[in-house]
Amino acid sequence: MRWGAVVVAAGRGTRMGAPENKVFLPLGGRPVLEIALEAFERCGRVEAVVVAAAAEEIGRVEALAGKAGFAKVRAVVAGGADRQSSVQAGLEALETEGALVHDAARPLVTPEQIEACCLAAEQHGAAALAVPVKDTIKVAEGGMIVATPDRSALLAVQTPQAFGRLALLEAHRLAREAGTQATDDAMLFERLGRKVAAVPGHESNLKITTPEDLLLAELILERRREGKHSP
Ligand code: CTP
Ligand code: MG
Repeated sequence: MRWGAVVVAAGRGTRMGAPENKVFLPLGGRPVLEIALEAFERCGRVEAVVVAAAAEEIGRVEALAGKAGFAKVRAVVAGGADRQSSVQAGLEALETEGALVHDAARPLVTPEQIEACCLAAEQHGAAALAVPVKDTIKVAEGGMIVATPDRSALLAVQTPQAFGRLALLEAHRLAREAGTQATDDAMLFERLGRKVAAVPGHESNLKITTPEDLLLAELILERRREGKHSP
């Protein structure tokens, strides 16, 4: 199966509290987005990458990809007001049969994890990287705890997530028509009763959301560069 990837980078990074979009912040001296794109560039299964960027940042992303020499980056398209519409814009610009969707805010993903996601999707129809939940999760209403789901049944889902491109576009169309918003793409598939395989991910594939995440990511990257064990 031929695979392409949509890397979504069109957010604002509000929770990071930085003056610019968090995907441009330096991590080990390079922008977060560049590190994320490099993993796809290095993954043999991926032949094309489309980046969804904020309209006013398209030029900046094109320059970043050009300077880094990323030959797989075929297009930088304008994202939307929410993540879902950014993913959709990227999917429309891809031409491959399979589509991976990845958050630029997860720069520490590895080519091996991307490959594992493709393989699982080829076998099961769709797949997402996920890790067991470490915390005990509570359901709360009005500030009061009302329930505790069984932790052994809970997974924290990551990206990449892998699908048939046209099937995912169709799921996006149905969600848009129904006016529903999903925080990830697997959720759109689940709602249609379609199966999504959970592929073992790793804690190091963290999403950079707040300044603490950036500190931790720096440390993981440093360890990797020193060749110390860190997936
Ligand atoms: N994203 C996007 N388009 C949007 C919103 C988000 O492409 N309209 C992307 C972000 O750039 C990020 C990924 O989706 O790579 C995951 O979203 P999140 O971590 O929430 O990033 P932001 O929305 O930028 O951050 P925040 O919610 O703190 O503003
Ligand atoms: Mg957001």
